[in-house]
Amino acid sequence: MILVTGGAGFIGTNFILGWLSQRDEAVLNVDALTYAANPRNLDVLNALAGHQFVHGNINDGALISGLLARHRPRAVLHFAAESHVDRSIAGPEAFVQTNIVGTATLLEAVRSHWHALPAQERDSFRYLQVSTDEVYGSLAPQDPPFNERCAFAPNSPYAASKAAADHLVRAWHQTYGLPTLTTHCSNNYGPYQHPEKLIPMMLRSALAGQRLPVYGDGGNVRDWLHVSDHCRALERVLEAGIPGSTYAIGGTNEMRNIELVQALCAELDILRPAADGASYAARIALVADRRGHDRRYAIDSGHIRRELGWSPRMAFAEGLLETARWYLAHAAWLEAAQTEDYQHWLARQYGARVPA
Ligand code: NAD
Ligand code: TYD
Repeated sequence: MILVTGGAGFIGTNFILGWLSQRDEAVLNVDALTYAANPRNLDVLNALAGHQFVHGNINDGALISGLLARHRPRAVLHFAAESHVDRSIAGPEAFVQTNIVGTATLLEAVRSHWHALPAQERDSFRYLQVSTDEVYGSLAPQDPPFNERCAFAPNSPYAASKAAADHLVRAWHQTYGLPTLTTHCSNNYGPYQHPEKLIPMMLRSALAGQRLPVYGDGGNVRDWLHVSDHCRALERVLEAGIPGSTYAIGGTNEMRNIELVQALCAELDILRPAADGASYAARIALVADRRGHDRRYAIDSGHIRRELGWSPRMAFAEGLLETARWYLAHAAWLEAAQTEDYQHWLARQYGARVPA
C-alpha cells in the first residue's frame, strides 16, 4: 500500500486513477476536503476497489501516525497543499499552516514510523514531496530554463510556502536519513482541475457567457505539462529515484497566456460554438495584473529524462483539445465546483477587475 495526501484534489485524483488502472497495490488517501476537493472526485475514486479514503488533516500528527502504524504503507506521496497563487496573495496564513506546518507535522509522523521499521522495510521506504517549479522564482526572456541546481527565489506566498516545505524535506533527509524524493513540476493541465486555475477558469467563463480575464499584458509564460505526464514522472521517481535527490519536471512547452487562451477559444469555437456566432476570443479581457506576477517559468527536464528515462507523451495541442472535451462532457463536475465559496472567490478576485 501507498499513502497519498491530498488525493481528492486535481493531481492527486489523476495520480490515484492512473496508479489503480495499472496496479493492484492499494492507495490510502488522506484529504481534508478543503474547497479545492470536488466531491465528485471522491465519487469516482471511491468506486475503485483499491482506494481507501480517510477524511483527515495533515496537521493532525496523531491521526497520521495512527494510519502509518495501522496500514504500514511502503511510501508516502505528499500532494496536499493550498495550491492557488492568487489565494495566497489574498490570504497567506492557510498556506503557512498547511504547506509549511502541515509538511513538518507529516514529516515528523513519517520519521518516527520509518525509524521503527525493520531494516528491510526501512531501506525500501520512500517519502515523495510533490513540489513546484515556482520555488525558483521568475525567468527573464533569454534565461535558460530552471534545473535542479537553481537557487530557490520564491516570489509569491504560495511559492515561499512550498520552498519552505522543500527545505524541511531536505533537512529531514540530511539530518535523519529519511529517504526523501522531491519533484519540481511546471504548470499542469487536464481533467479534474479546479476552475480557479487558468484553463478551467477560461473554459467555465466562456461557457457561462462571461469575459475571459487575462492578467496584465497576457505575455506571462508558463511551461504546460499534461497531468498524466506529471503522474507518470512521479511513478518513475518513486520507483527509481535516488533518495535525497530532486527532479525537475516540465513539458518543454512554453506558451504566453494570451496565446494559450486564444488556442482554447479556437477549440471551443469548433466544439461548442457560441450562440451569437462570435468567437469566444472576442470575450478576452486584459485585466489588472496579479501582484508580484512571475513573468516566465520553464523547466529543463534533462536530469529526469537521462536518469529515469521519463519524457512527456501528450502533445500540447492534443492535450488541450482532450481537456476542453472533458470539461464539456462533465458539466455536472464543473457545476459541483461552483460552490458558494467559489462565487465569493470570483467576486473578490475578479469583481472589480473585469469589465462588464
Ligand atoms: P489542489 O488544490 O487541486 O488539491 C489539493 C488537495 O489537498 C485538495 O484535495 C485539498 O482538500 C487537500 N488539502 C489541502 N489542505 C489539506 C490539509 N491540511 N490536509 C489534508 N489535505 C489537504 O492541488 P493540485 O493542483 O492537485 O496540486 C497538488 C500538489 O502538486 C500541490 O502540492 C502543488 O503544490 C503541487 N503542484 C501543482 C502543480 C499544478 O500545476 N497544479 C504544479 C506543480 C506542483
Ligand atoms: P494559474 O493557473 O493560477 O497557475 P500559476 O499562477 O501557478 O502559474 O495561472 C497560470 C497563468 O495564468 C499565470 O500567469 C496567471 C494567469 N492567469 C490569468 O491571466 N487569469 C486568470 O484568471 C488566472 C486564474 C490566471
